[in-house]
Amino acid sequence: MKSFVLLIVYLFLVSCQQLSYNETIAQNLAGFSFASFCNPKYLQQWSCGSACKKIPNGLTDFYYFYNKTLKASRYIGYSAHHDAIVVVFRGTVPWLVQNWIANLNTVKIQCPYCEKCYVHKGFFQQFNQLKSQLIFVTGHSLGAAMSFHSIPFLFELNRNKPIDAFQNYGSPRVGDEAYANWFNQQSFAKEYGRINNTADPIPHLPPILFPFQFDHSDYEIFYTSFIENGNKYEQCKDAEQKQYANNKIIAASVCDHLSYFGWNWVTSILACQ
Ligand SMILES: *[C@@H]1O[C@H](CO)[C@@H](O)[C@H](O)[C@H]1NC(C)=O
Ligand SMILES: *[C@@H]1O[C@H](CO)[C@@H](O)[C@H](O)[C@H]1NC(C)=O
Ligand SMILES: *[C@@H]1O[C@H](CO)[C@@H](O)[C@H](O)[C@H]1NC(C)=O
Repeated sequence: MKSFVLLIVYLFLVSCQQLSYNETIAQNLAGFSFASFCNPKYLQQWSCGSACKKIPNGLTDFYYFYNKTLKASRYIGYSAHHDAIVVVFRGTVPWLVQNWIANLNTVKIQCPYCEKCYVHKGFFQQFNQLKSQLIFVTGHSLGAAMSFHSIPFLFELNRNKPIDAFQNYGSPRVGDEAYANWFNQQSFAKEYGRINNTADPIPHLPPILFPFQFDHSDYEIFYTSFIENGNKYEQCKDAEQKQYANNKIIAASVCDHLSYFGWNWVTSILACQ
């Protein structure tokens, strides 16, 4: 899978460090920055006039965030042209008086992620309103396995703070014992569940036995039944040590891999083609 480049554009913030500078990228990102002033309706269609014309292909997976309190906004999307996820913060709009008030508030506050650093209170508050979204990560089956690999990456992007929820369903074993132990020792997510249905065969793969020697991470949420108003589950700290571990593989049911919380993957997939 291709890796993404994360480009963050802060309008009116200039970094003077010795970094390499690519003017082509800079010109494109200027287009993204100035487009941020446009009505989100036109942004969504990437028809915002000259700024949008700079990057003809625009962004897909476009999402616009807006917080009413201080009228702060940003948008995020995928640029196929750069193979990059682009995050754009809107600058001051002159006629939005509240933005100006925030800009003129020159009081400094301690920076939460840099010891002994103080930052402009108004700008920080403005940003804070836009970072209130939670980060949830999930996946089923192969998706669950891939979601495991996304977690350390997202954790780092989140300044080594736990993401809000990581719940995966019917995950195969992702790595060896050392990987499982390492994963167990991290605090990657505030809410975590590797959810395993009664006789789902996939969590038994690839095998724990020689020569495969794969291992699950801890804190499995093991469901014996999914019934309306009362799903029964057990929390298993060390899933591989559970007395019934690997017993039910004989009764392994593909249906249990396909059905979680009443969602049936096959019918769900067929319904959305
Ligand atoms: C600058 O970035 C563009 C677009 O990503 C790329 O095609 C070009 O090779 C880069 N130029 C330099 C000098 O690195
Ligand atoms: C808007 O900002 C306020 C103040 O920082 C915050 O409490 C609130 O959750 C934000 N609202 C949304 C919808 O993000
Ligand atoms: C997953 O669920 C099955 C029940 O079918 C159980 O035997 C197993 O211990 C659970 N955990 C693993 C290792 O997949």
